[in-house]
Amino acid sequence: MKILVLNGPNLNMLGIREPEHYGKETYLDLVKKIENYCKDKSIECEFFQSNHEGALVDKIQEAYGKVDGIVFNPAAYTHTSVAILDAVKSVSIPTVEVHISKVEEREDFRRVSYIRQAAVKTITGLGTDGYLRAVDFLSDYLRKR
Ligand code: DQA
Repeated sequence: MKILVLNGPNLNMLGIREPEHYGKETYLDLVKKIENYCKDKSIECEFFQSNHEGALVDKIQEAYGKVDGIVFNPAAYTHTSVAILDAVKSVSIPTVEVHISKVEEREDFRRVSYIRQAAVKTITGLGTDGYLRAVDFLSDYLRKR
């Protein structure tokens, strides 16, 4: 089983940006945490972070036929990007939407998620553990298919 862990804009700034919302772990800490978790479960994982919408769309398209599931925090593009929604729909790869913060309890604009309608599950407000829960969900979901 192979999982792509995709992160959108400003998530490379984890540990520096708004720790009251996103905690103190860095992006590298996050990658290591997921990597170790996946290793224990014999799941292969690949990581990609970009601040650019088109680069995320390209990566989703490249995943077609190569990846079984996607763990995706589209960050600010969650609330704006039809292109990212369409990319996830195009490849039909089971995708879990993850947010570190509890987006539904923040500003109104963060309650809108374009990608949600294409996601098999949404996880919010669990900090970076949300990514691990997304891996659990996907491995279960994929094994049952
Ligand atoms: C986020 C929430 C988004 O609203 C925000 O733009 C982010 C991170 C989260 O992980 O909580 O960049 O996706």
